[in-house]
Amino acid sequence: MNVPFYEKLWMWASGVLIVAFVVTIVAGLAGSALQPPSHVETIDPTKVWNDPRFKQRGVTTTDHGATVVLIAMMFAFQPAEIRVSAGKPVTFRLTSADVIHGFSIVGTNGNTMVVPGYVSQFTTVFRTPGEYLIVCNEYCGLSHHLMSAKLIVEGGAQR
Ligand code: CUA
Repeated sequence: MNVPFYEKLWMWASGVLIVAFVVTIVAGLAGSALQPPSHVETIDPTKVWNDPRFKQRGVTTTDHGATVVLIAMMFAFQPAEIRVSAGKPVTFRLTSADVIHGFSIVGTNGNTMVVPGYVSQFTTVFRTPGEYLIVCNEYCGLSHHLMSAKLIVEGGAQR
């Protein structure tokens, strides 16, 4: 069969693309890319209330920022009100006492899934003081729409 040169060129080019796609998928799988969207730390979901990491919930402040420890459950966050300073890094550590919940701080980039069996962690900085609504954004049952909390960002350190 006599295939014109440009036809051959395009056939080879598309072949190379397919190989490149397969290589990226295989490389992605090999490089531990498949994990929960968080740092991976496990916990016994039936014992979260007595786990030393979650026994003391709420805000712990240091010179460098703050750590906030929360438990999500049907249908509330514990604690339901959090107070942090503006302009300093805040690390959130969350886990679930029952099913999958969401943790979304409306109007900020603070957002994570809360999966039973895992500790979700993320760090962010709130620049603008004010009151923020925290909502559960994963459907978790009949009263999912009532599951909320409040974040109060205090202080003047804007910028
Ligand atoms: Cu918790 Cu929806």
